[in-house]
Amino acid sequence: GKQRLMTVTAQTPTNIAVIKYWGKRDEDLILPINDSISVTLDPDHLCTTTSVAVSPAFTHDRMWLNGKEVSLSGGRFQNCLRELRSRANDVEDEEKGVKIAKEDWEKLHVHIVSYNNFPTAAGLASSAAGLACLVFSLAKLMNVKEDHSKLSAIARQGSGSACRSLYGGFVKWIMGKEENGNDSIAVQLADEKHWDDLVIIIAVVSSRQKETSSTSGMRDTVETSELIKHRAKEVVPKRIIQMEEAIANRDFSAFAHLACADSNQFHAVCLDTLPPIFYMNDTSHRIISSVERWNRHEGTPQVAYTFDAGPNAVLISRNRNAAVLMLQRLLFYFPPQPDTDLNSYVIGDKTIMK
Ligand code: PMV
Repeated sequence: GKQRLMTVTAQTPTNIAVIKYWGKRDEDLILPINDSISVTLDPDHLCTTTSVAVSPAFTHDRMWLNGKEVSLSGGRFQNCLRELRSRANDVEDEEKGVKIAKEDWEKLHVHIVSYNNFPTAAGLASSAAGLACLVFSLAKLMNVKEDHSKLSAIARQGSGSACRSLYGGFVKWIMGKEENGNDSIAVQLADEKHWDDLVIIIAVVSSRQKETSSTSGMRDTVETSELIKHRAKEVVPKRIIQMEEAIANRDFSAFAHLACADSNQFHAVCLDTLPPIFYMNDTSHRIISSVERWNRHEGTPQVAYTFDAGPNAVLISRNRNAAVLMLQRLLFYFPPQPDTDLNSYVIGDKTIMK
């Protein structure tokens, strides 16, 4: 029959961990050494938009990221593509004259076009949004009928943190016990409406690419750090329980205390790695001190900070009022460049605000 191009477009926001994932017990399947909890951002900022297309005219799987072709030969992409193809189903769209039988997916090739509206690989979890979006859009295209948690286990094999971006709101990635990783999935703890007072400000201290990839960083940490063993075994399990409680009760003081402590321990674990990994810079440290001083001055925490594998600060404010005051403090201590407007003022290279 006649076959034409068929496309699907999806948008996926990134997520920011408040109890961090760091360290794998299985590198191929991407199985973590501890549970983690994250907040998924609003889709209008920090998101990936991905269009996927299938056509009998395509001879290879190909992908373009931010307008540049990237290789799909890596094991992680291949694992995701294989998992999705094996779950594909019949697709029929009479209007478009498209009919694909389940078994055809093994032979057909896809083209993937993806855009991040934020700096790639600058420690803003770009891979999280990217891989989640890739898996979600391909699953739609291929009529994969699995639920979000099953899809999260596929996205996880592309990038660990990606599994948490399949859901909005507050999400837990359960590390799981099985060797095949089938129970290492994301679950939603609460949806985006549950705690909508929170305002997230992202201070982009530097939009340069990070020097140590999370993959090699985690590997070095697991191989050389004593502190990571203590963290994974003794610290995180307790914090996961406390964080779930803080989220359920919308208890900002507990939430902020746990998020800041966990970010600091993650960066301490990086320092405890051989060779040590420095993701934060002087500006990051000054932002931490400024938030700590302010929270102490107020008596109750107004803002929580958390930093991933890079120097950029994610500041989670108790409410809009606290967010406005936080922004004023940022503007005062880290003055913007003269030619920028309030929506994109500059700390290091650039700042996104939300
Ligand atoms: O999924 P990856 O390989 O990008 O690792 C993410 C690690 C952190 O962002 C530092 C922590 C986390 O839980 O997202």
